[in-house]
Amino acid sequence: METTSGDYGQPRDEQELAAAAEVMQQSYAMSAADALAWAQRVGRDDLRLLRHDGQVVGTLVYMKMGQWYGGRSVPTVGVGGVGVHPVYRGHGTATTLMTHLLRDARATGAPLSTLYPATQPLYRRVGYEQAGARYEYRVQVPSLSFHERPLSLRAIEARDEAAITECYQRTARSRQGWLDRGAYVWSRVRTPRDGQAHGYLVEGTSGVEGYLYVVRKQLQGWKQELLLSDFVANTREAALRLWSFLGDHQSLATEAVWFGGGDEPLLRMLKEQTYSVKLHMHWMIRVLDVATALQARGWPAGFSGTLHLEVEDELFPENHGRFVLEVSDGEARVRRGGEGRMAMNVRTLSSLYTGFMSAEALRTMGAFVRVDDASVRTAMALFSGPPPSIRDMF
Ligand SMILES: CC(C)(COP(=O)(O)OP(=O)(O)OC[C@H]1O[C@@H](n2cnc3c(N)ncnc32)[C@H](O)[C@@H]1OP(=O)(O)O)[C@@H](O)C(=O)NCCC(=O)NCCS
Repeated sequence: METTSGDYGQPRDEQELAAAAEVMQQSYAMSAADALAWAQRVGRDDLRLLRHDGQVVGTLVYMKMGQWYGGRSVPTVGVGGVGVHPVYRGHGTATTLMTHLLRDARATGAPLSTLYPATQPLYRRVGYEQAGARYEYRVQVPSLSFHERPLSLRAIEARDEAAITECYQRTARSRQGWLDRGAYVWSRVRTPRDGQAHGYLVEGTSGVEGYLYVVRKQLQGWKQELLLSDFVANTREAALRLWSFLGDHQSLATEAVWFGGGDEPLLRMLKEQTYSVKLHMHWMIRVLDVATALQARGWPAGFSGTLHLEVEDELFPENHGRFVLEVSDGEARVRRGGEGRMAMNVRTLSSLYTGFMSAEALRTMGAFVRVDDASVRTAMALFSGPPPSIRDMF
């Protein structure tokens, strides 16, 4: 059974939306009602599907957003909910669906695509590679002995939306890889799947300095777990106030749980290591447009350097070949040509681009087709930065 190409797009009508929901139901062990509600929430604009003989055989969610690299938001297409009807699996259906998605995404001008893989070979086959991490933190709530309450705290209201977005972005833009969230991801922050979230913000004279959204999940014996879909503090005072707020739950709450990078600054305020940090997942990116991706991100200020790259890309001939990357004053210029001293598959560029793997580590693992010492040294400096991470699941 071959799934023919050319049958990809948004659901044409409510019937196809329902068929997409059915694929999701069988792919993600959901109830029929949950799957339909999910498909309707995503909507026809953000769903993509693959048809075979008029039947919907595969689906995914297409999310326009950005990722912060070097202080700049680089447009990326987030991919989630990839599912293939069980009858059509093992015949390249998902590979065909992803190939269409990548062409579609590149045509919009986004230079990157980002996803969390449930299986890696499928995504590697179409050019994605590991590019960052998402960690889970669990803090023991009874250990939160913060008694200072330097800022006022109140429930978040609808009128606070813009201030909350701005507060998040102030933190996110200095965190390599964090999302410049689109509507879908914000909806998962404010209305997470785990249950009803309540939002609280802290404000000082200059406005909102921090906030969190918490779902209080009941455990056995009336105990609670605090699931934080977001936890942001832009000042020390905001962090103190939010920690003391979480500590105020200690009569019943056991742990507070949230996600982010391996370098979560909020943890350093705790007296003891009354927390655990666990890798949740490595995420992957696909470089859709080499030149645009390199020019769109920010670079370390006060450093200049030149790299002669050569890229192999089976899917996009536009990415194939030689490029010269010139970085100075935090900006990059890319032109065609050069000597191709650092040669790699487009997948290797993913891990390098975000700073997830150093050029030296990649060389050790044989990830370059060809590279010289001088290029490795230059790339080590150019692609250095905080370890790339994402807070949100999508
Ligand atoms: C994962 C899934 C989308 C693959 O669909 P598919 O049409 O069978 O995939 P393809 O035939 O294009 O296979 C591509 C590669 O993916 C990998 N792959 C496929 N199915 C897999 C599975 N069930 N588990 C692990 N890897 C798998 C294989 O490496 C395969 O390459 P190979 O055939 O050379 O071994 C499908 O099994 C599915 O819907 N699963 C449930 C939902 C899910 O896990 N989605 C992924 C979320 S990120």
